[in-house]
Amino acid sequence: MSLIVPAKTKRVYLSKRPIEGIEKDTFVSETTYVKQPGPDEVVVRVDIVSLDPAMRGWIRDVRSYTPPVKIGETMRAGALGTVLTNGKTLKKGDIVQGYLGWTEYSTIKEKFLEKVVAPPGANPVDFLGPLGMIGMTAYFGILYVGKIKPGQTVVVSGAAGATGSLVCQIAKIKGAKVIGIAGAEDKCRWLVEDLGIDKAYNYNEQGWHSRFKREVGYLDVFFDNVGGSILDFMLTRLNLNARIVLCGTISEYNSSKPRGLQNYQTLTAMRASIQGFIVFDFTNDYPKAVADMAQWIQEGKLKRKYHIESGLENCPRYLQMLFRGENRGKL
Ligand SMILES: NC(=O)c1ccc[n+]([C@@H]2O[C@H](COP(=O)([O-])OP(=O)(O)OC[C@H]3O[C@@H](n4cnc5c(N)ncnc54)[C@H](OP(=O)(O)O)[C@@H]3O)[C@@H](O)[C@H]2O)c1
Repeated sequence: MSLIVPAKTKRVYLSKRPIEGIEKDTFVSETTYVKQPGPDEVVVRVDIVSLDPAMRGWIRDVRSYTPPVKIGETMRAGALGTVLTNGKTLKKGDIVQGYLGWTEYSTIKEKFLEKVVAPPGANPVDFLGPLGMIGMTAYFGILYVGKIKPGQTVVVSGAAGATGSLVCQIAKIKGAKVIGIAGAEDKCRWLVEDLGIDKAYNYNEQGWHSRFKREVGYLDVFFDNVGGSILDFMLTRLNLNARIVLCGTISEYNSSKPRGLQNYQTLTAMRASIQGFIVFDFTNDYPKAVADMAQWIQEGKLKRKYHIESGLENCPRYLQMLFRGENRGKL
């Protein structure tokens, strides 16, 4: 691929805040000029963008862990790219990660970029998976917040997704009994047959609650990616001192009025806890986590699946796949 800076770039920007799900006029794509780099900037060709459920939150004008994307602003997105101009530390041809956004080319300060070099057995794309934000979420969520111990029963919702599938594998590496919850039969099969977890339940199948009660009974740690009715059911399944790791609540992201929980009184009876976290809380410990993840990749203990689509202007449509369970792996 050419390392020449073109005159123009396509970008997709936020045009209107949706009330519930993303709509046709939520985002607009346009062609504009590539900005000339300033003294502390480089031009980066955006090669691959990460699509994340959190993006639905970033376009909501509410108080959160990061400011909302503004109307007219290029949609924020973690991405991998190739540097096209020499900077002070980065050189033409370097592969970098950063919040490059939904754009073909980005002119950005070097300090917001990190050069990536894939460790043995890994690829640069793994910096959008186990070696990047998603991997850090899985690692710190299950180990630092969930504090799992060998032999404990760990249940993971959204288990076949990007975060969930890594959580399942880390929990297995640490000697837990791992139960996955996912929305399709093929996802459940992949979890058991390829990732080697102990059991998986398809929440779209009739009678899964009764089978779960009979076959699993109670849990020590629930790593929750989805919230809503699955969280409510798991509240009835807590062992003494159980911990719920509230990583995300994707089932409610498109809803203007999330439903309330019914079964939270078990938290008192079981002396259980429920704790939310944001991956950026653990940045100081990222190097240790990346080293562990890289080692597990090299040892063949961490499998990754990527779901790759093409066409920048189609990002709004692809993003919605996450809310319909249409992705197979990290989107
Ligand atoms: N706290 C943090 O710092 C942090 C960081 C990163 C991600 N997260 C959260 O982690 C979760 C997973 O993110 P990801 O990037 O790994 O996405 P992902 O799991 O790869 O994709 C999202 C999955 O969510 C499931 N889902 C969608 N709607 C659902 C519903 N109504 N009920 C149940 N499941 C539903 C779908 O799988 P099924 O087919 O199984 O339904 C879908 O494939 C999200 O909640 C995200 O916000 C949190």
